[in-house]
Amino acid sequence: MRIIPVALIPGDGIGPEVVAEAQRVLDQVARMSGRFRFQYRSFDWSCQYYLAHGKMMPDDGLKILQDFEAIFLGAVGFPPVPDHVSLWGLLLPIRREFDQYVNLRPVKLLRGIESPLREVAPGEIDFIVIRENTEGEYSNSGGRLRQGTPQEVVVQNAVFTRYGTERVIRYAFERAVHSRQHVTSATKSNGLNFSMPFWDEVFRSVGQAYPQVKQELYHIDALAAYFVTRPKSFDVVVASNLFGDILTDLGGAITGGIGIAPSANINPEKRYPSMFEPVHGSAPDIAGRGIANPIGQIWTGALMLEHFGLMAEAELLIDAIEATLLDGVKTPDLGGRHTTRDVTDHIIQRLTAWEKAPE
Ligand code: NAD
Ligand code: IPM
Ligand code: MN
Repeated sequence: MRIIPVALIPGDGIGPEVVAEAQRVLDQVARMSGRFRFQYRSFDWSCQYYLAHGKMMPDDGLKILQDFEAIFLGAVGFPPVPDHVSLWGLLLPIRREFDQYVNLRPVKLLRGIESPLREVAPGEIDFIVIRENTEGEYSNSGGRLRQGTPQEVVVQNAVFTRYGTERVIRYAFERAVHSRQHVTSATKSNGLNFSMPFWDEVFRSVGQAYPQVKQELYHIDALAAYFVTRPKSFDVVVASNLFGDILTDLGGAITGGIGIAPSANINPEKRYPSMFEPVHGSAPDIAGRGIANPIGQIWTGALMLEHFGLMAEAELLIDAIEATLLDGVKTPDLGGRHTTRDVTDHIIQRLTAWEKAPE
């Protein structure tokens, strides 16, 4: 049996609520599979930790994480710690230090969920967004001059390297080759006159090696609208860091809400641990009430299974999520009246029932 060391960072707000539930589900999948076991070690790095220690994680935090094969994270960020302090103290350094340059975010309408869009049936929205995850608009470069004065000037630089842009676009093409042979690129080369013309150039040049793949470029503003007006028409969408961030909350919204949307921060070469965390944040408005939707975190667990080649296990887990939704067991964000725990219990029940009587 394969033992996979996983670092758990439940984090803030609803993070610990949904991580604990996802762990219960993953343990059940592991029991049924018999092929693997996640060996967890939990870290309390969070805004609470910051209030006690003046930092989001210990100085050797990244070094500690390096020894794990994966990081399973809930969410980071909670008042009164300013968001740029908490996120740049924990989440973003992990993505960058471990070169998790692919942020893979499936946008899929599951059975049992009704899209807010008209005339869209389950299965009809089914694409992935590949978000660049280590540079671009999140390059940690800039500054404030004459702070607080009427003459204040603020600069936030976006840094695009050829190496960084090429590799994420190539990854998107490779995914499309094994999917429906279609890549859509998010651009904004009309308004952003350095970064995005460069992005487009690299997209076209990488695309030359994939003549069989349909290639489209849309300005990010138009593309956002197409997500709403014709979401069935996408296969693989590739976007820079910020554009991909925005597009994937929208992707969540058209497939039932961000409470279900999963996400994987991957270092494809597996030189470093990859990190698995849902698209949503710590949801301070509903934290502590037991009503957070655990499906985003649980589905993210399925992406972690896939990352380790446990495809049948991942599929089983997604089937159990869909069965639960079809049974009408849903948290309030999906129009239901069930708790976080009810949903998880039901998913586990579904798995257990299949274990006893395989279909
Ligand atoms: P958010 O995703 O936390 O919440 C947005 C809205 O979605 C809220 O109304 C919330 O209640 C709802 N929501 C989110 N997850 C849900 C779930 N599982 N079930 C039901 N409803 C859910 O985004 P925000 O409000 O912009 O950010 C809150 C905090 O989280 C901030 O500190 C932000 O920086 C942080 N954040 C962290 C991550 C991360 O760690 N990966 C991601 C996004 C935001
Ligand atoms: C996400 C989040 C983060 C991001 C924030 C919290 C920095 O919104 O993972 O989507 O922008 O990457
Ligand atoms: Mn986001």
